[in-house]
Amino acid sequence: MAAPFTTKGNSIENLIEIKGARHAYQTASGPLPVLDGLDVAVPSGTFAAVVGPSGCGKSTLTRLVAGLMKPDEGEVWLHGERVTGPRKTVGMAFQNPVLLEWRTILDNVILPLEIVAPTMPRKDRIARAMELLDMVGLTGFEGKRPSELSGGMRQRASLCRSIVHKPEVLILDEPFGALDAFTREDLWQTMRDLRAAEPFTAVLITHDLRESVFLGDQVIVLSGRPARTQYVMDVDLPADRTLDVLFTPKAADMLHVLRDQIKIAQGRDVEGQA
Ligand SMILES: Nc1ncnc2c1ncn2[C@@H]1O[C@H](COP(=O)(O)OP(=O)(O)OP(=O)(O)O)[C@@H](O)[C@H]1O
Ligand SMILES: [Mg+2]
Repeated sequence: MAAPFTTKGNSIENLIEIKGARHAYQTASGPLPVLDGLDVAVPSGTFAAVVGPSGCGKSTLTRLVAGLMKPDEGEVWLHGERVTGPRKTVGMAFQNPVLLEWRTILDNVILPLEIVAPTMPRKDRIARAMELLDMVGLTGFEGKRPSELSGGMRQRASLCRSIVHKPEVLILDEPFGALDAFTREDLWQTMRDLRAAEPFTAVLITHDLRESVFLGDQVIVLSGRPARTQYVMDVDLPADRTLDVLFTPKAADMLHVLRDQIKIAQGRDVEGQA
């Protein structure tokens, strides 16, 4: 069955669509409303960056896309199919890379292939993993254990693992949040290069507005909890953008608009203190 709606008025198929999602978690002290009108449309092959106040419901959004939970109301569609349960073909990376210490870096990266492609010969799995490890500059570290790598290197390995099985959707929940500023910028460029090598559709949760503009094709601002889609910005910058683009007047204007939107989401006066 085809997806029930499209947005943006163009012919690009929306790979991810969330329409009017509402949800409340049941807690010991009663229902906690977290989503109250979430509308998200991510065209195939594009990156949607999602920003919003802490605790507003961003990770909850990723769980909807991965099929790990169903909203009380509203619809979630992936590739024109209604999401009704967990999807194998979703790649995920988080703030904590959660690599398995008893496996080498290579065997950590291979893991999703063991699940989604159990009949794939090991030599093909290794070739695929090594191709990605090479792209992120980890050739030579494939035989190491996670604890032998730096935080940035572990996160590079985690990114390889999240895309090794060519997932239909990549979910990135603050994957660069725990890294220092320079390593983070390095990883942004790694992400850009991975995308150029093999396009994928991604939802990137971040607290960093510069990151959202550097990596996003659109930036979705969520309101405070319960979250609704408050504002959507199309990032009209070149696909092969370099970090320098962040210092252009155009990017500065975008960052100002986003900053004001975050203040609104936090219930603060736009003209008030920074
Ligand atoms: N399984 C759960 N049961 C009950 N409450 C939950 C559950 N998961 C999340 N919450 C609550 O729902 C709200 C939204 O959580 P969520 O993790 O989606 O927020 P977030 O925007 O990702 O936050 P952060 O920016 O801190 O990562 C929070 O108040 C959180 O405490
Ligand atoms: Mg979160």
